[in-house]
Amino acid sequence: MQWWKETSIYQIYPRSFYDANGDGIGDLPGIIEKLDYIKDLGFETIWLSPHYASPQRDFGYDISDYFSVAPEYGDTEDALQLIDEIHSRDMKILFDMILNHTSDQHPWFQESRSSKDNPKRDWYIWRKGNGPGKPPNNWACLPGGSGWKYDNTTDEWFFHNFLDFQPDLNFRNPEVKKAMFDTMRYWLDRGVDGFRLDIFHSIYKDDQFRDNPFSWKYVPTSDFDEGYFQKLEYNINRPESFALAKEVRQVIDEYSPDRFVIGEVFGKDVVKKYLGENQDGLNLILQFDLIELQGADGNKAQEIRNILQRYESEYSPPFLPTYSVGNHDRRRYISRIENNQGLARLLALLQYTARGVPITYYGDEIGIPDGDLPHIGAKDATAHKYWWLPPALARSLHLYVNRDGCRTPMQWDSSPNAGFSKTSSARPWLPVHPDFEICNVEKANKDPYSLLNIHRNLLHLRKAHDSLRSENLQILEGLPESVVGYSRKSESEDTNIYMNLGPEPVKFHHASGKILFRTDPACTADGAIELPAWSGIVLQ
Ligand code: NOJ
Repeated sequence: MQWWKETSIYQIYPRSFYDANGDGIGDLPGIIEKLDYIKDLGFETIWLSPHYASPQRDFGYDISDYFSVAPEYGDTEDALQLIDEIHSRDMKILFDMILNHTSDQHPWFQESRSSKDNPKRDWYIWRKGNGPGKPPNNWACLPGGSGWKYDNTTDEWFFHNFLDFQPDLNFRNPEVKKAMFDTMRYWLDRGVDGFRLDIFHSIYKDDQFRDNPFSWKYVPTSDFDEGYFQKLEYNINRPESFALAKEVRQVIDEYSPDRFVIGEVFGKDVVKKYLGENQDGLNLILQFDLIELQGADGNKAQEIRNILQRYESEYSPPFLPTYSVGNHDRRRYISRIENNQGLARLLALLQYTARGVPITYYGDEIGIPDGDLPHIGAKDATAHKYWWLPPALARSLHLYVNRDGCRTPMQWDSSPNAGFSKTSSARPWLPVHPDFEICNVEKANKDPYSLLNIHRNLLHLRKAHDSLRSENLQILEGLPESVVGYSRKSESEDTNIYMNLGPEPVKFHHASGKILFRTDPACTADGAIELPAWSGIVLQ
């Protein structure tokens, strides 16, 4: 099997992971110092959120030079050393690649905006307005508001699918496509094992610039294809973007050993197209169903069963789903599930034992809660747009507009600043979550059933049992209502997973077997299977 089909991914937000030089900002040498932690947990691949030169208005998702490293994170030598150190631990590294847009400070955009006849003019999407002060059409950008920004240098508007300092590149211009493919090749040549592709579904826009149709929805749907009173029909998920997925795959496939790309794409019923009918598009796409999971009430067993069933039918082999509960854009999952530690353990059990690639965002392995940080004065630029929206109202609408909350520093120990900065007097770029004295790596290491040890043990279990990495998953029937069960088979073994996703204990008869793993020491399988509330077991 190709290595990326069996891998497990740990996402690092470089600014927040470990600050080795004491300036309050995480850095590449800091990541290098902590690689053994990630290796020991059992992760095989690291996805590094952007570390390139950037004005940091969107913390690296606004790149001003794809070939250099942001000085506060280190330099090119550090990036190359990071790649080497990861490989020397027999691990892989994915860089984040932003093809859709650059920073407005990128020299390409500076040239492009300077005059209508500049050779780079057509590298971005420029249009005349629809009358004085009126944008060329009604397209909303993904964070809300018009996607067009007026530029008085040339009296035209440029388009941005994200924030207005992130102008979209024009992929219809072959020079742009070539420049961006060469950017990927530059890092592939230096050993990176692939990329996570930022808002890949946004890259092509309608070539006729048709208005988006009206919709009654203001708050965006979870698929992000409707909202702000329109259906985002013409500025995302265009057929040319599905075709681009195949071209990107060809670039990746120029390299051996295998490299891979995983796309950030949103949209109802269409995202699978990015994988290509013959699995000749992006290798994987990020899936957000567990990231959308809210609360710890309701029928959680049914919600999880539905996700499993859908992934198994839509992404049956050779396709492969991905499982993650959090990322750098969404409220921390432990807070979303109301700090239900049992459910948190079960989500880890699901992630690492279901058929798919698990992706864990730094800090979720110890359950760092979401930072309760105000919109006003936020570091995150989307919060600046929504400064007027009270955080409690935003939460009740499931709108997460201040992403500072999920980016607070990693909590290593209970020393000042949670051990995030090597120098204890440093002032971290975001406040450390106040619970760091009870929630940190050092403390979690000591408890055999801590969330951290659950992650570690499951990752090692997954490595040791080929059934857990096989292409086979069968959902088990005839179990109590609150229990989700599935079997994983390989040539040499048969493994059953049972999770009690409810607040009452359950006792039932099903296959018996040796206990390989349990999320709670009180789970037993002695004749009958007995699972306390919110607990699960793996039987061989
Ligand atoms: C999606 C990324 O995950 C997010 O952090 C970023 O702000 C936008 N794309 C724009 O690049």
